[in-house]
Amino acid sequence: MRAVSPPLPATDDTASRAVLRDGSVVQLRMAAPSDHQALTRFFHELSPESRRLRFFAFAEPSDELLTRFCDSSDLSRNATLLALRLDGGDLRPIAVGSYFSTGDATAEAAFAVDDRFHGKGLGTMLLERLAAIAGAHGFKRFEATTLAENAAMLEVFHESGFEIRSKSDHGCVNVQLSIDPSGASVNAAERRDALATAASLRPLFEPKAVAVVGASRTAGSIGRRVLRALVAGGFTGPVYPINPHADELDGVRCYPSLSAAPRGIDLAVVAVPRPAVLGVVDECATAGVKSLAVITAGFAETGADGRALQQALLDNVRGHGLRMVGPNCMGLLNTNPRVRLNASFSPIVPPSGGVALSSQSGALGMAILELASERGVGLSTFVSVGNKADVSGNDLLQYWEADPATNVILLYLESFGNTRRFARLARRISRKKPIVALKAGRTRAGSRAAGSHTAALAASDTAVDALFRQSGVIRADTIDEMFDIAACLDSQALPAGRRVAIVTNAGGPGILAVDACEAAGLRVSPFSAATRERLAAFLPAEASVGNPVDMVASAGPEEYRRAVEVALTADDVDALIVIYTPVDPTCSSETLDAIRNGIATGRAAGAAKPILGCLMAGTSRPQPLIIGGERVPVYAFPENAARALAKVATYAAWRAQTPGLFWSFEDIRADDARNVCRAAIAADGERWLTGDETKTVLGAFGLPLAAGTLARSPDEAVALARVLGFPVAAKLSAHGVTHKTDVGGVRLNLEKPSSVRRAFAEIVACARKLVSADQIDGVLIQSMIADGVETMIGVADDPLFGPLVGFGLGGIHVEVLGDVQFRVAPLTDRDVDELLHGIRGLPLLQGYRGHTPADLDALREILLRVSRLAIEVPEIVELDLNPVIALAPGKGCRIVDARVKVRAPGTRATPTDG
Ligand code: COA
Repeated sequence: MRAVSPPLPATDDTASRAVLRDGSVVQLRMAAPSDHQALTRFFHELSPESRRLRFFAFAEPSDELLTRFCDSSDLSRNATLLALRLDGGDLRPIAVGSYFSTGDATAEAAFAVDDRFHGKGLGTMLLERLAAIAGAHGFKRFEATTLAENAAMLEVFHESGFEIRSKSDHGCVNVQLSIDPSGASVNAAERRDALATAASLRPLFEPKAVAVVGASRTAGSIGRRVLRALVAGGFTGPVYPINPHADELDGVRCYPSLSAAPRGIDLAVVAVPRPAVLGVVDECATAGVKSLAVITAGFAETGADGRALQQALLDNVRGHGLRMVGPNCMGLLNTNPRVRLNASFSPIVPPSGGVALSSQSGALGMAILELASERGVGLSTFVSVGNKADVSGNDLLQYWEADPATNVILLYLESFGNTRRFARLARRISRKKPIVALKAGRTRAGSRAAGSHTAALAASDTAVDALFRQSGVIRADTIDEMFDIAACLDSQALPAGRRVAIVTNAGGPGILAVDACEAAGLRVSPFSAATRERLAAFLPAEASVGNPVDMVASAGPEEYRRAVEVALTADDVDALIVIYTPVDPTCSSETLDAIRNGIATGRAAGAAKPILGCLMAGTSRPQPLIIGGERVPVYAFPENAARALAKVATYAAWRAQTPGLFWSFEDIRADDARNVCRAAIAADGERWLTGDETKTVLGAFGLPLAAGTLARSPDEAVALARVLGFPVAAKLSAHGVTHKTDVGGVRLNLEKPSSVRRAFAEIVACARKLVSADQIDGVLIQSMIADGVETMIGVADDPLFGPLVGFGLGGIHVEVLGDVQFRVAPLTDRDVDELLHGIRGLPLLQGYRGHTPADLDALREILLRVSRLAIEVPEIVELDLNPVIALAPGKGCRIVDARVKVRAPGTRATPTDG
């Protein structure tokens, strides 16, 4: 057993684009025979020096070699990957990487990059992507021979992070790379991707100059509102309205076209009618614009024609190497005083702060901005992502990860694009900055509405919950709650535990707060004697000095100041909720000052714990309490504060634990399992595996199927039972019968030869009513497993999230009570522990009321092996191991029954965005 890295991002999907070091984008695809001419031209136009470094000669490659480059039909023999850019209306290769098999899991790899694009990371990116493709097709090593003077190429090999061996030989260097993704290569690839993606979004968020294409003469039109917002927001750079019919709009000089405007435009906000959008993208590229926010609607959200137009738009944007937010979005904002960008048609700009926010719904985006402003939640950046054709939520996560102005990331999601990439990124980023997500469409009806609204697939909720849990994402249930949580995270430290002190001047709200805290999993435990004594020293006799601290209605500013200070500095407190219900409104401001002073004194004494205020007065939304540079979030009701704090505490506990590891096992023979599944699919398409096939697949992954042998006659069955020892179980094995129990195909606890004989006859008779004689393989005779706890382990294929691994107790626990937990594969050891500890029936595994406990270590190992099976054999779309009998500690587990369904991979829905 050894810890391994999760798959490289490049293998997460069909990855049809890559972001380069300079933030520009290239399209990627495998070469095809139709590329012959384009490749001839590419090598012809390479400088003679580049050709010499690539081919060791100034000559151009032979026709035969070019034909080989164009053949990517069998990736276990050779492959050529092209990086493409638009040039004169055509997509042309600007970099080419290829490998040819030289046998023994080794391939010879070589790369060439157009001279104009050197130094942008194209070579490293091609190597990384090619290695992922080669690895998926059985290769373990790349070999390359490079001229010793070709320093750039040698650096690419070293930078890749792959394990490298090199040998100099007469002016050449022979390099061998182990392309098994090692920790170092995965980290290197992730770092490159994060840096490049963040760089590619900088022109959007921090543009030096902005153009508004479609700034209309009509006041109130969308383009005009964007222009107004930019000017009113005080954008720190120049704004260029583009309109062929106007000289000046809102006091700003207009330009008839982008090419007539000054150079140096980083961002173009596009609000022209739909048919003009593609042409505007070309103009942007010609004028050197780096990024676009396309507000225009009428793309993928409107049906097939719109989808086709969006694809054409995306091809155009990526072909030119640009980045685009939208289409069908309301734009973006950056409140940084150095930038002050409001490139949206929202007139509302919330205060500057540390919360970054993306919204998939444009209309809701406006409401969200309004709410943030009302509640005084400070935003760093806001993006309305619209149809997410190019810039995805995942790209934004990487930008915010690197953005020093962002402390908390809020995502309002209606659909997921590339969920595997989201899982990887969220796992990493949540460890540094909290991510709070509100996922619309929890219910089936809600999901359908989300699907038709954004033209994207809605994810099933079990998978969403599992994914969020695994990656530390805090799930908010409402927009208000999203801000409740964000307000706490942006300004307060994370709590070290779940112990809450409540200070109040009114009993009712105090009790509400206690109930809400306990219901949410926080603890309002009684204070220690020392803390009670400190409180009793200044509070009146009728006050309660336990927890909550109820200072009664007569509590004045001084009581508040001292109670807050004591609770904040108490050793047995991890967080503080201060409730104030003004009894005498004339004292309100004085009391608030006292609370501020109490907090300041507590802070000065070194207490960093989070404080949440709850001011139950007034009709307007409560504003944060400002103490020096600190903002203490204030909530309308104690329940809001309690729920937000509980979610924050759960996140803090997740972050405090060491991250889980992915494990693999030396004895796994993934190829054997894959071959069985592929052969079954080749013969019959989608189907359940036979008993023998199932046995091979589980055996290849070291999964302990209970001993049993197929008997083909009653005599054989009796003989086998004698060998195994009575009692035995007899089970039908037949093609096309999956629910054996339902059709009378299972007999248990057979204690003597005559019962075995009778069971054989009855099972075959039942089977003959359903299938023909030649479909019946025989009857499986298995030992009965005495004792142990019955559990079930399964894999279900989620169309968007891929395989989900489920675990529960067997029998009625799963059927009646639905006591099953799921996690998205691949599972870390920590995910596995959470699966085991997440079920309500856990005490039964731990030895409830004198029963023997279960072998939890063995269950852990089975779950890790099942997770690898689900990932490494994507042909498996369903797997049920039920029951899995967990024996006493040290005795292992036995899989008593197993069903495996296979289907050609890739026939499920594929992710839509990166
Ligand atoms: N270059 C520069 N300007 C151009 C242009 C081009 N290629 N093509 C058109 N224009 C100008 C027009 O001349 C016009 O200016 P004018 O009024 O001064 O003549 C301006 O662009 C706008 O064109 P117009 O035809 O008036 O469009 P519109 O304002 O009615 O609608 C959109 C444009 C983008 C607002 C509309 O197509 C749309 O998509 N609306 C929905 C937007 C939306 O809901 N987005 C999602 C929000 S969440």
